Amino acid sequence: MSYVAITGVGSCLPKRQVTNDDLVARGVDTSDDWIRDRSGIGARHIVSEGESTLTLAVGAGRMALANAGVAPEDIGVVIVATSTQEYAGFPSTACLVQHELGIGSVPAFDMAAACTGFNYALTTAHHFITGGPAKHALVIAADALSSIINWADRGTCVLFGDGAGAVVLSASDSPGILSEQLYSDGSLGDILKVDQGEPRETFEGTHDALAPYVFMEGRKVFKVAVESIVKSVTHCLLDAGITADDLTHVVFHQANQRIMSVVGDKLNIAPEKLAMTIEKYGNTSAASIPITLDDLNKQGALKAGDLVLMVGFGGGFTWATTLVKWTKS
Ligand code: UT7
Repeated sequence: MSYVAITGVGSCLPKRQVTNDDLVARGVDTSDDWIRDRSGIGARHIVSEGESTLTLAVGAGRMALANAGVAPEDIGVVIVATSTQEYAGFPSTACLVQHELGIGSVPAFDMAAACTGFNYALTTAHHFITGGPAKHALVIAADALSSIINWADRGTCVLFGDGAGAVVLSASDSPGILSEQLYSDGSLGDILKVDQGEPRETFEGTHDALAPYVFMEGRKVFKVAVESIVKSVTHCLLDAGITADDLTHVVFHQANQRIMSVVGDKLNIAPEKLAMTIEKYGNTSAASIPITLDDLNKQGALKAGDLVLMVGFGGGFTWATTLVKWTKS
């Protein structure tokens, strides 16, 4: 069994939904029209009392295990891609997930690659299975970016939402993961970063002088994202020996509907192949790809043999493309 395939998928969203109009009512100097027009976002979910990166990660992980029919004790490695770890530093969110889900004493660690974290974690888990004793891996992407947003900055606060998505990867007799392209360019670190600034305004309206938060040069990120995705996807398709016509579904990181449409046009991907959850969930950072994959699965849109392209990009700057053949029926 020298191949690795996705055998389960799940997701978890916070219970509190915040619409664009809710943000206007909260006092953000914006409008539903502006947010929809510039990003495609209509609402996002934000953690409230009793919810955090960990609870979302556990919820998504539990659902992916059930969907795969894999018992917690059969998981050989746990990876959580996140920029909002439950604790700053340690213990890792992955170790807490391992305990909460009753997984054995296997390697568990977090991975920091911002919105590209899911792709990075998939590749890492893939190598754990092909190169080690693990037969199954639990890969979770979970972020609660609302906790590192400055709610006084309308250029960022309207874009992000919280959530988690997860997959189980398993050793397989037939190919699942077909191609993986991971990239980084630290010279672009400044265009999207978490840093100290003026006291951060929380969603509740209090101010925290010591809290770092997200800074983004939106237009630059937009341009770099489009250029890097086009190159990365082109390389991935060449590597796999296929064309855009062969793809069944394309799951872009849900940062901006316009980015997805522009890139789709440049790559000649038929618009109906672009999976989108941005309207209802906003940009959930690393979680957006597995959340959208789970959305497709729940719609019954994923069939055995489908070719699914998953494309991440974000802070670092990092970007990545993963091509999988869906093997679940
Ligand atoms: O997951 C991480 C990756 N992130 C991304 O991929 C984000 C990439 N960038 C973007 O998605 C877009 O650049 C944004 C959605 C962030 C912004 O859209 P834009 O078309 O680039 O707008 P802009 O930043 O150039 O701002 C245009 C105008 C400005 O006003 P003036 O200077 O023209 O008077 C902004 O002050 O829109 C104003 N503006 C807003 N107006 C209403 C900025 N934010 C808002 C807002 N509501 N929330």
